Amino acid sequence: ATLSSFVIAIDGPSGTGKSTVARTLATRLGAGYLDTGAMYRIVAVAMLRADVDPDDRVAVADHLPFVQLDTPTDPQQQRHLLTTVLPGNGSSGTVDVTGEIRERAATTAVTPVSANPAVRHWLLDRQQQLAHSGRMVVEGRDIGTVIAPDAQLKIYLTADAAERARRRHAEQTSGDATDSALPGSIQPDGLAAVQADLDRRDRVDSSRDTSPLRAAADAVHVDTSTMTIQEVVEHLLELAAARGIRA
Ligand code: DC
Repeated sequence: ATLSSFVIAIDGPSGTGKSTVARTLATRLGAGYLDTGAMYRIVAVAMLRADVDPDDRVAVADHLPFVQLDTPTDPQQQRHLLTTVLPGNGSSGTVDVTGEIRERAATTAVTPVSANPAVRHWLLDRQQQLAHSGRMVVEGRDIGTVIAPDAQLKIYLTADAAERARRRHAEQTSGDATDSALPGSIQPDGLAAVQADLDRRDRVDSSRDTSPLRAAADAVHVDTSTMTIQEVVEHLLELAAARGIRA
């Protein structure tokens, strides 16, 4: 028998192939896919669009009531919409921010935004609800520890720092994104700059007070340094099957 409802938690730092692995796994299992990083990125874009300083914790918290997210869970349809309610007359507008959330400005702003306890608290309920809405593969930094500590399978993906930088750099220069879709307008950085940026983000994500990046005690660690995406997906499908999770 296969479980009619489950959570597979996929955590780990950037550049491990996490997004592609999680989305492909969801597709192979006929499950939903939740990209929690995208939710933080949308909040960051909402702040930038409203001219709210992403580093100003109080201003960011004060602006949250004017932000509405519409988060997709179909692994094949990952279009992200941001609805902004205008303070004052209450009128609203919806924009497709699918490309914008991957741009450099959003990638820089999301670090302080995701370290803001008010933002994490604001997203907690909806992430927990979506994570428990059926058969779900959920990707992020704190899924196994905070969002779904009850997950049937917890995966912690790692890769050598140099290999992660190489992948991210290759993704940016080829235009053939393997992690997240990058709009063509993005200028590739040099490998050293990519490595420095990954190091910076890992350090901040791992050392923040609220829900830092860390593996759950019962997570299965998978080092993807020398594995292809397909190999990682096949390995995770085996781990899932051993827990009664099948397509
Ligand atoms: O996975 P990503 O690069 O799209 O994540 C964007 C940012 O959000 C990154 O700085 C880590 C943070 N994040 C987080 O703090 N908690 C999550 N569950 C997911 C992402």
